[in-house]
Amino acid sequence: MTKFSLSGNKSGENIELPVLSGTLGPSVIDVRNLYAQTGHFTYDPGFTATGSCASSITYIDGEEGVLLHRGYPIEELAEKSDFLEVSYLLLNGELPTSSEKEKFEYTITHHTMVHEQINYLYRGFRRDAHPMAVMIGVVGALAAFYHDATDIQDPYHRMIASHRLLAKMPTIAAMAYKYNVGQPFVYPRNDLTYAENFLHMMFAVPCEDYEISPVQARAMDRILILHADHEQNASTSTVRLAGSSGANPYACIAAGIATLWGPAHGGANEAVVQMLEQIGSKENISEFVKKAKDKDDPFRLMGFGHRVYKNYDPRAKVMRQTCHEVLEDLGIDNTMLDIAMELEKIALEDEYFVNRKLYPNVDFYSGLILSAMGIPTHLFTVIFAIARTVGWVAQWKEMIEDPEQKIGRPRQLYTGPSSRPYIPIEKRS
Ligand code: CMC
Repeated sequence: MTKFSLSGNKSGENIELPVLSGTLGPSVIDVRNLYAQTGHFTYDPGFTATGSCASSITYIDGEEGVLLHRGYPIEELAEKSDFLEVSYLLLNGELPTSSEKEKFEYTITHHTMVHEQINYLYRGFRRDAHPMAVMIGVVGALAAFYHDATDIQDPYHRMIASHRLLAKMPTIAAMAYKYNVGQPFVYPRNDLTYAENFLHMMFAVPCEDYEISPVQARAMDRILILHADHEQNASTSTVRLAGSSGANPYACIAAGIATLWGPAHGGANEAVVQMLEQIGSKENISEFVKKAKDKDDPFRLMGFGHRVYKNYDPRAKVMRQTCHEVLEDLGIDNTMLDIAMELEKIALEDEYFVNRKLYPNVDFYSGLILSAMGIPTHLFTVIFAIARTVGWVAQWKEMIEDPEQKIGRPRQLYTGPSSRPYIPIEKRS
């Protein structure tokens, strides 16, 4: 085994730490015994150099712009597969055979309804509540409905919880939308695909037929594939950390949704559309690029930059292509897309962005597609949450099944006062 030498154990001698290698990507220095050997912790706020777990689900090479799920490139999956097949792959490690695929689709389709009592939960929310707030509440509440399969040490229970979450997320999300706009809830239809069914529950109304556009259904399916998993990002790490205490799986996913909501994570697609609307026309682009470069201005180009990708996000490439297809199919005014493409061009040539390796990320184009499909801006992150649920669940399952798994418990660099005696209130100045 390769060793990494470090000077400075308690007696000032060199110590050696094991170096572990995966199948791809950088090796890791195993620091599990560092504290015992040296009395030191590592310090890495933001986890920029910390591997928190071993995982065989997703691989990212940020320098090269590569994203693989169980070894399959994202571009191929987006082109040739569909969301439920990718979900099966993430959960089970291999692509399904035809009979496995059929059975999986049947199972997910037949778990799409929610307990009727859940309908009443929505009424407790204000109609204008942000749908992500509603999602956190309703998904967390699933823990109170599905008591029959919550022994996380039982593989069958884990599988049922995984299927329920994957199946019910579109229903819960569409209900959040319907409640918001004051329309009746639309029940799932078992004859539709996952993406078609979601569009149906979103846009159908009892008084007329709703025809699902194949181009839009395919675009929705692609958006779901492209967001399905992304290794140890903030929301996935949250789900793992919550799950590491043995918490209820629905509560863990609710924690993931809460983390995803932030504008630096899943909230960025919403922020991109707001930014493009604010820019308004191509003439204003340079002013916004200038603002993004100004250190005294908190404004950032939303949809640009990524903690891991220091190259074009491979998901953004597929998204850009899909964006063209959807807008063309719908015959929609392309002003926003024109602004987005011009902004991308200007930023990619600008020294500031080039030096910092800031490229468009997945969220740069996804918002435009969703807007064109009639999805309101405040629902964008909800769609990201539907897609990411399978990634969260696959990573949660992998963690529970890891024999080395233990509760996540980081340490800290303490910077507060050292021990001091309590001061009675009359003596405080
Ligand atoms: N616009 C302008 N400057 C930027 C941007 C941006 N979008 N992103 C990073 N920078 C600058 C930043 O100011 C810093 O400059 P300097 O070195 O001079 O201080 C440098 O680039 C490095 O940035 P950082 O904040 O240290 O990088 P990070 O890895 O901590 O942040 C990020 C990554 C995604 C939070 C950040 O790039 C960002 O805020 N982007 C905009 C929000 C966005 O699009 N988020 C979606 C991420 S992809 C979807 C997902 O995975 O959830």
